[in-house]
Amino acid sequence: MKVTYYGHSCFSVQTKDVNILFDPFIRPNALAAHINVEEIKPDIILLTHGHWDHIADLMEIVKNSGAKVVSNFEIVTWLQNEGLTDLHPMNIGGSWKFDWGKVKYVNAIHSSSMPDGAYGGIPGGFVVITDEGNFYYSGDTALALDFQMIGEEFDLDFCVLPIGDNFTMGVSDAIVCADFVQCDKVIGVHYDTFPPITINHEKAKAEFEEMEKELILMKIGSSWEL
Ligand code: NI
Ligand code: MN
Repeated sequence: MKVTYYGHSCFSVQTKDVNILFDPFIRPNALAAHINVEEIKPDIILLTHGHWDHIADLMEIVKNSGAKVVSNFEIVTWLQNEGLTDLHPMNIGGSWKFDWGKVKYVNAIHSSSMPDGAYGGIPGGFVVITDEGNFYYSGDTALALDFQMIGEEFDLDFCVLPIGDNFTMGVSDAIVCADFVQCDKVIGVHYDTFPPITINHEKAKAEFEEMEKELILMKIGSSWEL
């Protein structure tokens, strides 16, 4: 399994069967100016919620790749009205088996609206089960006891959690979240993109280390092999 980071909360996971992209937001992100969006060709795009900093490049990447888009019912309906056709709607608590693996759309505590102000359904996170490993991406969320259920149900190889604070969990809550989901390998996202979510990298890593967990802060454009 190969994870590639495109900045903010956008990353892809490549297995031998599929290339999954999460929350595409690249061209408006000054930190990701060296990323060429045209080269990103996923098979499937998983959207956690409707906020602009998670879907800004969705239409462009779908146009270039023909990727299927998976999200909650309201977002999928909105995308249908925008002209997309290869869509799969889910809602909180539901799982779906694709031909490359299984996805469960799980609870997140946040908000969700579309760029035009339309209601964006309930925001969520994804647990992804593949032949090569399992992972959890929480999306934008506060810390919640619900995450304990994820730890009990799944055996995760890594998780992807926001650590930038202000709009989502910060570092200390992400450490507790990692405990709840029973996964000590954490890729941090949703930090540094905007002034209110700027973090001290070394301090964040040290705080995870103190709790015997690993915080991975990937360089934008770099890949990490599991
Ligand atoms: Ni958000
Ligand atoms: Mn966000």
